[in-house]
Amino acid sequence: MEKMFGELGLRIASPYLRLGVESSSKACNYFPTKVLRAFHSVLPRLDQKRAVSSEPTAVRPATESNTIIKKVTAPFLASKKRHGQKVTMVTAYDYPSALHVDRAGIDVLLVGDSCAMVELGYETTQPITMEEMLHHCKAVHRGANRALLVGDMPLGSYEVDDREALRNAYRFIKEAGMDAVKVEGGSKARAQTVCKIVEGGVAVMGHVGLLPQAISVIGGFRAQGRTAVRAREILDEAMRLQDAGAFAIVVECVPAPVAKAIEDTLEIPTIGIGAGPFTTGQVLVYHDMLGMTSHPHHQHFVPKFCKKYARVGDAITQGLAQFKQDVEASTFPGTEFSPYNMSQPEEELFLKFLERDASERELLHLEAAERMKNADEYEALNLYGYTNGNNK
Ligand code: KIV
Repeated sequence: MEKMFGELGLRIASPYLRLGVESSSKACNYFPTKVLRAFHSVLPRLDQKRAVSSEPTAVRPATESNTIIKKVTAPFLASKKRHGQKVTMVTAYDYPSALHVDRAGIDVLLVGDSCAMVELGYETTQPITMEEMLHHCKAVHRGANRALLVGDMPLGSYEVDDREALRNAYRFIKEAGMDAVKVEGGSKARAQTVCKIVEGGVAVMGHVGLLPQAISVIGGFRAQGRTAVRAREILDEAMRLQDAGAFAIVVECVPAPVAKAIEDTLEIPTIGIGAGPFTTGQVLVYHDMLGMTSHPHHQHFVPKFCKKYARVGDAITQGLAQFKQDVEASTFPGTEFSPYNMSQPEEELFLKFLERDASERELLHLEAAERMKNADEYEALNLYGYTNGNNK
């Protein structure tokens, strides 16, 4: 019996592992939240017995040295929650941002569909496509060794039917090297979809509260769960996602007491953004937290819950302005940045070659200059509407 409970303790730590027990949800065979809660009280004792590690367990060779990188897994995040440890998650969209986030030791790297806004310049997350998401995920995969990689399924890739959702989820895993996918919403239909994807062997992160993909329904990027009824609904959605087999849930832009209720109710980790301090973990968007964009338009769009940990955008603007100034003043590149030399004899020989056909080249140069001058003037006149002397 005790052996069985020990087994059970370990399995509960891996929320997406099947137990073959009939669930309240018709579509799923996962433990419903109320059953998980019933066993939760015995977990600390089981944890002590089984000594669940607070370190990531799976391994993948590091690219830079001979050290072995311990890969973060979904069960590791569950174990962190049970041990009262915080989970960190940051978005990344390309190879360099993935390198930075991974090297900082962040647990989860989310290739968010916020990519549409911060990388591709759209006003919402809605336009980004599967192909664009996969393209970014592939680059992120090349830059990360340790973090759990989660690919955000874009609007339209999982809602139409569950089989298509599973097919698209597989693309994130097989083509783009992601470890898991994220979907937005906690309706019954969405829970069914989550169940289908998890059954298909792909770990799913849920997302409740503000759902940016549903912006046309909710009418803007605004906080959710500010009435008791709506708050209760969001809690129900989170529970439904857990029952469906989600391994973690993002809770976005809800009042802190709502996020706390979700955190306290669920066994799986919650990861908050604009949801106060009580969630298992916190996530921020890379560009927002690092102050990547110094343009006033973007400054305006950085959400007010986002702390800026750096002013990278200011540094980029300064660097570019300095480059322009140096080139225009001919102070870059000086000898310090002109590293490629010729030996003295080669240089002398080269000068002799130049002398030999100097007059011929001078002639060619004059002809070419004349041709280009005429072309330039012609183009310039066309450009401003002055053609063939018809305009003054
Ligand atoms: O797309 C994204 O970046 C997200 C985070 C805000 C959680 O979904």
